[in-house]
Amino acid sequence: MINIGIIGTGAISRIHIDSYKKFPKLCSIIAICDTIEERAIEICKEKEINAQIYTDVNLMLKDENIDAVSICLPPSLHSKFSILALNAKKHVLCEKPMATSIEECDMMIEAAKLNDKKLSIVSQNRYKNEINKIKKIIDSNKLGKIHFANFNSLWWRSDIYYHLKYRGTWETDNGGCTMNHSIHYIDLMLMLFGKPKSVRAYFNNLNHKNSECEDFSIAIFEYEDKVITFNSSLVSHGEKQSIIIDGEEAEITIPWQVDASKTLANGFPQENKEKEKEINDFYHSIEDLEYTEHDAQIFHFLKATEEIEYNDYINDTEGKDTVEVVMGLYKAAQEESKVTFPINKEDPFYKKETMISKMTRFNEKKIFLESLPTIEISLGRNFSK
Ligand SMILES: NC(=O)c1ccc[n+]([C@@H]2O[C@H](COP(=O)([O-])OP(=O)(O)OC[C@H]3O[C@@H](n4cnc5c(N)ncnc54)[C@H](O)[C@@H]3O)[C@@H](O)[C@H]2O)c1
Repeated sequence: MINIGIIGTGAISRIHIDSYKKFPKLCSIIAICDTIEERAIEICKEKEINAQIYTDVNLMLKDENIDAVSICLPPSLHSKFSILALNAKKHVLCEKPMATSIEECDMMIEAAKLNDKKLSIVSQNRYKNEINKIKKIIDSNKLGKIHFANFNSLWWRSDIYYHLKYRGTWETDNGGCTMNHSIHYIDLMLMLFGKPKSVRAYFNNLNHKNSECEDFSIAIFEYEDKVITFNSSLVSHGEKQSIIIDGEEAEITIPWQVDASKTLANGFPQENKEKEKEINDFYHSIEDLEYTEHDAQIFHFLKATEEIEYNDYINDTEGKDTVEVVMGLYKAAQEESKVTFPINKEDPFYKKETMISKMTRFNEKKIFLESLPTIEISLGRNFSK
């Protein structure tokens, strides 16, 4: 039985708590911490948890009964509190984005190694049935060589979203829609295709006056043998998320669709119904996952904390890779240049202070509220809708 502490009791902590509560034989939530005590008290009532309440993380981490913590704090606090928790010999499940710089990610990975504790970064979209199925299709080679993919990570937030004090500055929020929203899909791009060789990019702030950062970006990622285009936005009604993958043999799309062409004598396409049926049948033959999204991530995290050898989905280096790819994208957009990976330690985009000093501030953030009137959030439109 793993004893859990929750650090930060805002919107996402509710999803963590709901998921932990689905595994009562594996874990129990025994501590809750938020600098705003009423929030911690409120969440215990709301979720019917009998936990010790703390307002100071350091004090909470002294409790030797806590085995693992969820870090549900603003991004700029992820590395500091993950490292404190790891040094206090707790396993850590940290929300995305892993940290505000590649350097901080390296420090977190180092702390996990030194303390021999598990460090997992939330990437719940990896555990969606559709993603699991298209990964199996890609791995089966049924698409042939893949030439091109396109990711659309399109979201909608009004300017009020940025009234919260830590959102919308390079210092505290790490960036705009690319780092905080599309990072989910950059993580999927890496999961499906690995790390790109290079990136070219453009970014802008189209409609969020209370944010210094971008609310729109376009990137072109080059791989050895394929090209991926990636659109991120925070101005898109309907929040449509899609992935299109074009192989030699067929195209698959999420939301799910398959199209295949064979050639006519003049080189124009003709529908290849047999190929479409083969891939469609394969897709539908793949069993659904036992657990999905945060439930799945938390299940695997709990298993990993109990079994030293269990490292499935303990994705600290993948968490770092997503941050590195976003930093490369920001550098390419800022410098209007092609950026190659990896980003090494001498690069200004490796460290937070030097990266921030280079970034365009699209607007001056003027509104800094302690909280917004409602805590309700949505996690993006589902592929199946
Ligand atoms: N995985 C997802 O789909 C998803 C969705 C939303 C948010 N997130 C991530 O979760 C994290 C938190 O987001 P949120 O929307 O829950 O934020 P939030 O602002 O609603 O909550 C953050 C909480 O942390 C508390 N806090 C701040 N400093 C603290 C400290 N030093 N000690 C203890 N508590 C402190 C605040 O009082 C607040 O209650 C962010 O990194 C965000 O990107 C992930």
